[in-house]
Order: sequence, then C-alpha cells, then structure tokens
Amino acid sequence: IEEIDEPEGVVIDASEPILRNADSWERKVDYSGAQVWKVSTERISVLGVITRLRRRNLISTWGGNQSSIDILVKSNAVANVTRVFQRERIPIHVVIEDLQQRINEENPPLDANEIELQDRRGHRMTWKQYHRIEDIHGFMDYLAKTYPKIVSVNSIGKSHEGRDLKVLRISDGKPTNKAVFIDGGTHAREWISPATVTYFINQFAENFDVETDDIKNIDWYFLPVVNPDGYEYTHQTDRLWRKNKKPTRSARGCVGTDINRNFGYRWGGRGSSANPCSEIYRGSSAFSEPESKALSDFIKNSAANFTAYITYHSYGQYLLYPWGYENSVPADHKDLHDLGNRMAEAIKQTRGTSYQVGSSSGLLYPAAGGSDDWAKSQGIKYSYTIELSDTGRYGFILPTSFIEPVARESLNGLRVLASQLAKA
Ligand code: ARG
Ligand code: ZN
Repeated sequence: IEEIDEPEGVVIDASEPILRNADSWERKVDYSGAQVWKVSTERISVLGVITRLRRRNLISTWGGNQSSIDILVKSNAVANVTRVFQRERIPIHVVIEDLQQRINEENPPLDANEIELQDRRGHRMTWKQYHRIEDIHGFMDYLAKTYPKIVSVNSIGKSHEGRDLKVLRISDGKPTNKAVFIDGGTHAREWISPATVTYFINQFAENFDVETDDIKNIDWYFLPVVNPDGYEYTHQTDRLWRKNKKPTRSARGCVGTDINRNFGYRWGGRGSSANPCSEIYRGSSAFSEPESKALSDFIKNSAANFTAYITYHSYGQYLLYPWGYENSVPADHKDLHDLGNRMAEAIKQTRGTSYQVGSSSGLLYPAAGGSDDWAKSQGIKYSYTIELSDTGRYGFILPTSFIEPVARESLNGLRVLASQLAKA
C-alpha cells in the first residue's frame, strides 16, 4: 500500500546510529521514537496538510484508503507534527508509540524445541518466524528433491544484486490442467506475504495425495519473493524498505524502483512517480527492472495455460481486481467481483477476518504499472492483488503469531478460486 506522489527531494530515513551488522557494515536504520498515526481523511483539507508534511520530510505514508491514512511520523518530528495537527484541529490517533520497539519484538528467535525440529526436517522453514531468503530457497529446493514427481524449482532470472528468482511448480503433469501464478514479496517490507505464499506451497506439496481434485487439477506456479534484494535489505538494514535495490540515475543517489509501478501496461500513468527518490518510482521505462522483466517474460513465454494470477501484498485486508491504472473496470468485472466476494466469504468463515472486495483504483487509489493490470492485459482472467492483514494496528510490523492464522484463512480463500477454475 502506498499512494500519493512525492516531490523531488524527499528522503525516507529516520535517524541512523552506526550498528555493526552481521553481514554488512551498512548503518542499520533506527526507528526509535518514530510513531505511526491513523488519520481520518474525511475532511479533504487533511490531505493537503499531509502532503506538506511529507514534502518537508517529517512524515511518510504507510497505507490508507479513501477514509483514512496511516502515517509514519519521524522521531525528530513528533513534537512539530503534533503542533501542526493541533493547530489544524485534526484529531490524532497514535497507533504505534515507538516503532523501533515494535520492530525489535516482531520476529524473535525460535525456541530450542523449534530449532531441534528444524534440524531434523531437512529444511529450516517454519511459519513461526519470518525467514531469510536462504531458508525460503532451501525449503523450495528441499521440496523439489523430496517430491520430484510433482514439484520442480526453476530460477526464472536474477535480481539486480544477483539473487535467484525461484519459481516452484506443483503439478501432476496432466496436459489438460489450467495454471495459476502466485507471487509475493514484491514490496520488501511486506513480510507476511512470502510467509503466506510459502505456507500454500507447504500445504500443497506435503499433502498433494490427499488434496482436493480442484487443487490437483491445477498447475501451480509460486514465486514467493519477487524482490529478494529488497527483502534481504529489510532484514539487514532498513525494516521499512519497499522498492528493489537497483541504483537509479538520480543525481542525489536515490536507490530503488517500485516493482509494482514498473509493469508494462499503461506504464507511467497516475499514482506512479518519475522521481527516483519517490517510494513509488516507476523506473526509467516499462520493465526496466530485472525482477518485473523476468516475471513477465516467464508468464509470456510459458506454455502453461494461466487462468489466474494473484499477487500477495500487505496490508489493509483487500481483495483487489483491475484496473489499477484508472478508475474503470474490465468488461468481465462482475465475474471478478463475484469470485472475490466468495473468496472473502471463505476467509471470513475461517476465523472472522473481513476483507473488502473491489477494483483497486475504486477502493484505494489509481496506481499504474502494477503486475495485476499487466496480467489482466495478457488475458489472464482472474487477476487479483490481495492485501493481507492487518488493517493498521501493526501494519507492516505484524508479529509472527499472525503468520499461521493469516496464511490459513488465505488458503481457504485460494481454495475457492481453485474450485471456480474447476467449474469454468
Ligand atoms: N498497495 C498496492 C500498491 O500500491 C496496490 C496495488 C493495486 N494494483 C494496482 N495496479 N494499482 O502497489
Ligand atoms: Zn505492496
């Protein structure tokens, strides 16, 4: 989630003490004293205030929809921004008092029991922790080795820093199957997304024999981490990094393109930025980034009969369908809306979690260059962006205890999609 453009000259950093990092000497970004506020935008003048504060680099935005917005207030700006809000009579709801404290508590190490289990299993993946890319890739390779009849893993390209973009395929090999492409981890800081996608992989691969016919009759393709460079960077240096890590031509040395603004359908439109320093920088041209290029080339060149594409993000609890680039919908929007509603219903049945269903431009804001729009433009009928939990209580810093329940209810949503494909 991220909207509103940023002007030239914005840097998104908190104060940075020097900390020795396990793998690099880069300074670890410290969010001590930074806060997250939920602000109602019912009064339209609020948006102007927020834009001004952002231009002055006192805040950045986390998420939002048409009625409220979550903002990150930098530690050295809390007093100042509080005064501005009081002067403008904008009510303040502090959601996170100290962001660094939340970050420190988010992903505690596994206990001794878990580590022992890990050692015996042949891979290190769990759904009790957010894992590094090495564990995720090790898990995928383990499944391919253990279930060679149904699971295969291929690298579809490399990230800018040279990490593999690993796709895991699960298939019984029947030539009549429809295919579904699922990805996660496009935005580096949205850790619940790769955790959820790997949960699906684990469920289908480990239990394939006893899975439903709906699941078995689909060729599944999973790319759990579209943006491995950014993902590793959020583990090592800046927990709130969003973009990839490819340097830009910016004179100010700004790094990174928003991969979800770089896809080549209506690229360059609203809700994307030409400014390399922006969080929603669209890149120098459509598919200028190795990650979006590899993903789209793979789908285009594949012989698989892709009928659905789902990209998992966080947060907000939305089931979004095209178009994202402008506030309009495709001709078959009723089909997308209806299936979205049924998926949301299955999610809700699990443990009561509510998702809103609608077009992404209608429910959130226009944002051009998204992978969902591109997939739809390629004729993949059921194209969705799913914004996982939560709705802002923890935001991106979702504690590990949420992984299992979020993934489990999401799987129930996915089963409804599978049953729809079985029908049509
Ligand atoms: N939060 C997502 C983003 O900003 C939403 C993307 C929805 N899709 C779209 N094409 N705008 O990237
Ligand atoms: Zn995202």
